[in-house]
Amino acid sequence: MVAVDRAVSIEDLRRLALRRLPHFVSDYLEGGAGDGGGIRRNVDAFRKYQFVPRGLADVTPVDTGVELFGRKYASLFGISAVGIAGIYRRHADELLAQAARDANIPFILSGASHATIETIGRIAPDHAWYQLYGAHMPKVTEAMLTRARDAGVKVLVYTVDYPLAPRSEASARTGVSMATGPTLRTFPSLFLDALRHPSWTAEYLRGGGLPKLESWTAYAPAGSNASQVAAYYVKHWNNAQTWRDLDKIRSLWKDKLVIKGLVHAGDASRALEAGADAVTISNHGGNKLDCMQSALDSLAQVRASVGRDARLFFDGGIRRGSDLVVAKALGANFCFTGRATIYGVTAGGLRGARRAIEILQSDLAYTMAMIGCRTVPDITRDYIGPAQL
Ligand SMILES: Cc1cc2nc3c(=O)[nH]c(=O)nc-3n(C[C@H](O)[C@H](O)[C@H](O)COP(=O)(O)O)c2cc1C
Repeated sequence: MVAVDRAVSIEDLRRLALRRLPHFVSDYLEGGAGDGGGIRRNVDAFRKYQFVPRGLADVTPVDTGVELFGRKYASLFGISAVGIAGIYRRHADELLAQAARDANIPFILSGASHATIETIGRIAPDHAWYQLYGAHMPKVTEAMLTRARDAGVKVLVYTVDYPLAPRSEASARTGVSMATGPTLRTFPSLFLDALRHPSWTAEYLRGGGLPKLESWTAYAPAGSNASQVAAYYVKHWNNAQTWRDLDKIRSLWKDKLVIKGLVHAGDASRALEAGADAVTISNHGGNKLDCMQSALDSLAQVRASVGRDARLFFDGGIRRGSDLVVAKALGANFCFTGRATIYGVTAGGLRGARRAIEILQSDLAYTMAMIGCRTVPDITRDYIGPAQL
């Protein structure tokens, strides 16, 4: 039995993942923005809620499935976009897509991915969603949308929460950008760190060093190597989005459109009025600002304001199946995981990604049954008590 098979919680997978990664990589993953307080607040917010189970309910068999955009997925969660994921585990995008396909849950490919959308479309034709990070040149953004459509993608996730490139104190400290990788200047200080993490380092070297951002390779000057493509992405990524850009994307993308990264009720309403099919309440997993309120608190506020019919997705801080139930009770129609599934794939490749999904899925089913909910729509605010401040 390999170590990931013995993991019984996401925290177990996290420990395995962090053991495998050099500090200059794990500090970035765990650091988020600023002092890291945003990540902790997201996770801790779930502990403010306790269940109030109902008795004598017929809960067999529990059905964790969710109808979404004309499909029935097997669970209440999917895998969210994580950029530059191949730095944690080579081919992480492909492995996560495969695990999501086999578990019948959606997988969102990041707009800053190591895999191309064509590759992911082939691996998971019915489960791949695409997250757009547009470029300053409209032609490049349009090409990204055309490629996603041609790859069979039906759901576009438009991330709008980074008006500036994010600031990671962890990266500032080590001097290593996760996109462009170690440089000659930073290499000596990383050497011992790399030696102490031989499994990660061997995989990195075997794979030829820095993985290439294949999602941007087609737009960078021909013949660019991995760090030149990354530098091109850093320079041309159009992070500063406005409402005008949303109108433009809505007119270009005819299929389902999800706006990711809003936390204010007024913004969520405006995005839905502008034609979004759903809004993901998210603070980018604490990577945007350390001093933001938790994503879960935002979800509760937005749901209270927009009413029950608006389609709201949620991510931020989910580490247990019971967290999915709390998020549903507070108004999420569907949830996504970032780090939980990255820990899995980092710790054990495809096997680890599958284990992360299984852990969340079985804990979800168990919690639903224990509180008296047979189906996902049964989960309402009635099943949790008031927030314990
Ligand atoms: C290392 C890392 C990279 C991320 N990259 C992206 C990205 O490329 N695009 C995006 O929309 N969100 C990105 N996110 C945010 C996730 O999609 C998601 O919102 C967040 O991870 C949810 O919080 P959680 O990690 O606590 O589950 C990233 C998150 C992490 C941790």
